[in-house]
This record gives sequence, C-alpha cells and structure tokens, in this order.
Amino acid sequence: MQSRRLNLALAVACAFSLNAFAGEVEVLHWWTSGGEAKSVAELKTMMSAKGHTWKDFAVAGGAGDNAMTVLKTRVVSGNPPTAAQVKGPSIQEWASEGVLANLDAVSSAEKWDSLLPPVVANGMKYKGHYVAVPVNVHRVNWMWVNPEVFKKAGAKVPTTWAEFDEAAKKIEKAGLIAVAHGGQPWQDATVFESVALGVGGADYYKKAFIQLDPKAIDSLTTLKAFDTLRMVRSHIDKNAAGRDWNLATAMVIKGEAGMQFMGDWAKGEFTAAGKKPGTDYLCVAAPGTEKAYTFNIDSFIVFAQKNKDQKATNDFASTVLSPAFQEVFNLNKGSIPVRLGADMSKFDDCAKKSTADFVATNKAGSLVPSFAHQMAMPSAVQGATQDVISSFMNSNMTSKEAVAKLLAASKKK
Ligand code: BGC
Repeated sequence: MQSRRLNLALAVACAFSLNAFAGEVEVLHWWTSGGEAKSVAELKTMMSAKGHTWKDFAVAGGAGDNAMTVLKTRVVSGNPPTAAQVKGPSIQEWASEGVLANLDAVSSAEKWDSLLPPVVANGMKYKGHYVAVPVNVHRVNWMWVNPEVFKKAGAKVPTTWAEFDEAAKKIEKAGLIAVAHGGQPWQDATVFESVALGVGGADYYKKAFIQLDPKAIDSLTTLKAFDTLRMVRSHIDKNAAGRDWNLATAMVIKGEAGMQFMGDWAKGEFTAAGKKPGTDYLCVAAPGTEKAYTFNIDSFIVFAQKNKDQKATNDFASTVLSPAFQEVFNLNKGSIPVRLGADMSKFDDCAKKSTADFVATNKAGSLVPSFAHQMAMPSAVQGATQDVISSFMNSNMTSKEAVAKLLAASKKK
C-alpha cells in the first residue's frame, strides 16, 4: 500500500513537472522526401523528450515554394506557426514586417555568437537580435554520379562542360539517360546556377547574381551560360516535366540515369537507400566549379505569439543547435553541421569534402550563396529570375532573349 501510494505520488509529480514545462511547437517545413522525413523525425523525437508536443506543418514541394505561399496566408490571418523554415534575405524581410520573436534569451545563454561562423550568425539577426536559428550547411554545386552507368557507357566523369557533353552522349548511346532532372522552376534554377558558376567563375557569379550588376548580367558570359544550359537540356529525358527532385535522384540510384545536378539533400536519398559514397555513387563538383562552393543554409524563423510562453520556442531553438541534433540530423540530411567545431568522425567522405571545401573556398573568396535556394537575392528578384530560367528551359527562347529577360528580372522590386 505504502509503495503504491508512493508510485502514485511519483506519477503525479512527473506528470506535473512535464506539464509545467510542456508546450506545443508547430513547425512549418517542406522536408517530405525519404531522407528529409528521417532527418526532421529526429527533431520531433528530441522535442518530445523535452516534454513538448510537435505539431507537424509539412508542406510538400522542393525548395519550399509551396510552403512559402502557405506561410504567408497563415501569418496574414493572424495565426502563425511557432517556427517556419525560412532562409537568406527572406529572414530580414519577415523580421521587418514585425511578426518575429527574438531568441535573445537562448542565444546569449548558449553563446551562439561563438558557436556560429560570423557570416552565418549575421544572417540570423535582425537589428542585432537573433530572430532565426540555423540548422545546417548544404552545398548546391554537386553532381551526383552513378559509376556503374559510366562504366557501362565507357564514359569518364566530366570536369568541364565540354567533357560533360561527351560523357552524356556516350551514356545515351548505351541506351541510358544522361541527366536525371525534374522540370520544376526551382530545379531548373539549381542547374542553371551550377552552369553559370562553372562557365563564369565565382567573381562573375558574385557580380551577376549577388550584386545584380547590370554589366555582369548583360554579358557574353551570361550568354554562354544559357548556351551551355541548352546543351545540358538536350541530355535530359523527355519525361522530366514536373518530376520531383527525389524521383530524379532515384533514377541515379537505380542506374537508370548517369548524373543529377542537385544540392546534397540528394545524398540524404542515397543514404536512406543504404548506398555508400565512393562505391555506389560519387559526389563531384559540377563541371568547372571544383574551386567554388554555393552554400544553402536551412534555418527556422520564430514568430511572436500571443498568449504562448516562450519556453517551448526556446527549447526548440536550443535543440536545433545542440551537438547531438546537429550530428544526427545532418548525417541523415546530407548536409554538414553549421555549429563550429562539430565532430565529423561519423560523417562520410562527401560531407568531409564539403567541410574542407567550405573552409578553403571561404579563404579563397569563392564561397558564394545559392540564389536558386533563396540565399542571395531579394525574394521578388529571385522569383523573377527563376521564371526566366524556367521559360528558357521550356521554350525556344534564344540565349540573347534570356539575357535581356534576366536583366529585367534583376530590377524587380
Ligand atoms: C532546402 C533543403 C531541401 C531542398 C529540397 C532546399 O531549398 O534547403 O533543405 O531538402 O530544398 O526540398
């Protein structure tokens, strides 16, 4: 009897202590592919372990275009989620609307300024206050290769766009698809971004796509980038229209296609399929981009909430940057930890290469933000730029016309 009463008292005490700190976090994200879902599941588990309820607000659609539309509707109706996957200059755009909460308490208690590279930390702050927490660093300028396909075709893994054209022709001759691609505007922009970087180099990329310098945009280099994109397009299969990016990755995994141009969230799909880098697949820089790095940092903004205590939100932000989460999430996601000094011993060679290249390109000045993944341009310019690239991919538009349209897009307010 005595012990039963004690058990009951303990149970009540436990329930009380959990409830006293429990909260709900509703988190908007677009991580719905196999590898992505596994990654975000780790966050749900860690939040439940802290006694919080996770309300999933997943909006399918690569690169988050759909998610952003849904987010706007929710915020306009006065009912924002706790946090939302938003990145790059959009963080500042949302903060200037006055709808975000700040993370001062947790960021100063945990000394975020010393945990993050300054360039990353600055992007998470609005007027000196953290309004977002970063999750990872993705590299975008990768080419994913199935070595078996190359072997069958007698082709060599290309390091220039001319070699790429040769290899692609050989793969097609062997009856296979050269490039797995999904014809969606953001995927078109992802390919163009790597092509432009490969054709023009990092200095050109910075001028044309970050500084939006009219002379750099309206140039022979941009013309050549579109010519090269047309060549790449000729090696994409005819069923690409509308295909999701992870289905394109699956074509490389299964050996139906030789290559895919995609950020390293694609590695999350290879990992989820039990494939090993170096043997089952190769991660190589897109032709001509070996010495540069297009980065894409996922992050969550947190919204100011009426009648909700900040505890669950702070716990969420703290969990995201914790060493344990940084490791397990990024192992599944294909990215690398954003937290400085992370233990990389469990990571594969692609992640190690990404880390080494991040450091080297940062030193060399060729570490550049990915515009296709909302890291570089104001959102209106990004949308208009993406539309031009996508119309080019789906029409007979000449490279000259595309350059003129790109210039107009860069002036979009
Ligand atoms: C995000 C990744 C995501 C990918 C595909 C990118 O913009 O940064 O986290 O996996 O889109 O949806």
